[in-house]
Amino acid sequence: MAPIQVKKICCIGAGYVGGPTCAVIALKCPHIQVTIVDLNQQRIDAWNSDELPIYEPGLDEVVKAARGKNLFFSTDVDKGIEEADLIFVSVNTPTKKSGIGAGFAADLKFLQLATRRIAEVAKSSKIVVEKSTVPCRTADAMRTILEANSKPGCSFDILSNPEFLAEGTAIEDLFAPDRVLIGSLQTQQGKDACEALTQVYANWVPRERILTVGLWSSELSKLAANAMLAQRISSVNALSAICEATGANIDEVAYAVGKDTRMGSKFLKASVGFGGSCFQKDILNLVYLSESLHLPEVAKYWRAVVEMNEYQKSRFANKVVDTLFNTITGKKIAILGWAFKKDTGDTRESPAITLANHFLNEKARINIYDPQVSKDQIWLDLTDYGDIPAEPIKPHVTISQSVEEACHNAEAIVVCTEWDEFKKLDWQKIYDNCPRPAFVFDGRLILDRKALTNIGFKVTTIGTGDRL
Ligand code: UDX
Ligand code: ADP
Repeated sequence: MAPIQVKKICCIGAGYVGGPTCAVIALKCPHIQVTIVDLNQQRIDAWNSDELPIYEPGLDEVVKAARGKNLFFSTDVDKGIEEADLIFVSVNTPTKKSGIGAGFAADLKFLQLATRRIAEVAKSSKIVVEKSTVPCRTADAMRTILEANSKPGCSFDILSNPEFLAEGTAIEDLFAPDRVLIGSLQTQQGKDACEALTQVYANWVPRERILTVGLWSSELSKLAANAMLAQRISSVNALSAICEATGANIDEVAYAVGKDTRMGSKFLKASVGFGGSCFQKDILNLVYLSESLHLPEVAKYWRAVVEMNEYQKSRFANKVVDTLFNTITGKKIAILGWAFKKDTGDTRESPAITLANHFLNEKARINIYDPQVSKDQIWLDLTDYGDIPAEPIKPHVTISQSVEEACHNAEAIVVCTEWDEFKKLDWQKIYDNCPRPAFVFDGRLILDRKALTNIGFKVTTIGTGDRL
């Protein structure tokens, strides 16, 4: 039997992964109808409006060009499933908060619910594509659920097609991916399903960039890629501590190291720590997998990458306190940037949250500014989505509409996100409105330390000693 021609795609989950990925598929494949479904009415309404629910450069244009033509957003999950030949499952898979594997394993309840729904609703055979970041073997679990619940005459092929896009550059990454990875069972039927999805991507991705592998390899490659990227950052951050103690400069070290073509220059920027929905979660998945495979040394090795990240965040927070003469009680601290990186409004695992909590524990007053994160989101983050009462911290937190407002009268200014606008500020004006001595802490190595020092600021930068 020849591979089926995909005519209708449904994507379950209209989040950071499903939304941009399937919007780009719709744009690049005008002959395919793409419906993105989600249980969250508010999110779907936003996708159908001029204010998309996520900020991503270039996304507005893609959605505007395809929406209403061959791209649709809906809460009718069942209809989406029924109509589609191919279904992407792109739901959230957070780290488990309780039960076996709490703090490490991925919580697959959303994925399992979505899979069950497919089995219940489907009246014809489907290709089901695992798109969410998941632990290895998830495809197997999905197949078991689908086979146990399917109707006679319905068969399901499971593919793993992990997403490698990075937030902030998602559209670029989707338009010109380094690679598209598709994992399938190595049976003829599995290979046919793989070819059907390959043909979808081949509408704009060169064939040699579409890699087809076994299911396990595909699932493990996603975890491996993220673990190795995160490992580079933890390595450079570990070196940043040595730089601070010795007078070496981490940017110079990273530049020298990155010039080695075996190494390459990307992902060597020291920082206050990595954040985002993937790195920590994927490494913890790898740790959990290693432990369940009775490989404790391997688990320990990867766990250290996360531990180094925690250390970097607390080391930086402690440095702020130490520099402000060992106490920040009652002092006003401006936090510039709340998102986990620039060009996104996403705050999941953002280092700014850890720093803010540290400062609040030390009884400081914090003023937060971020160009893309909403006030509501900042409050959700500060209260751990309602688990911590807001009332006690309310008098200590201000959310500002501009950098100038956040920095007014601040004893310390702490840069947590590398937003471009922070590089172009009128620092003299900011300095004029700060008490003396005025401290700046650059957690992203983006500021012109010399210029700020000349104005009069006392500047502390990750990974540099006192030498300018
Ligand atoms: C990551 C992977 O890059 C992507 O391939 C995968 O699909 C999802 O996870 P994302 O989390 O969106 O993407 O952003 P990324 O650019 O990888 O940044 C992650 C964190 O590392 C951010 O907090 C960023 O500021 C930090 N980072 C990145 C550094 O501190 N230094 C660097 O050199 C690079
Ligand atoms: P990611 O970063 O992986 O895309 P998000 O949390 O941004 O994660 O998006 C996942 C989306 O999946 C959410 O909007 C959530 O409402 C949706 N979702 C979760 N479970 C289901 C389900 N069973 N059916 C439809 N949508 C779901």
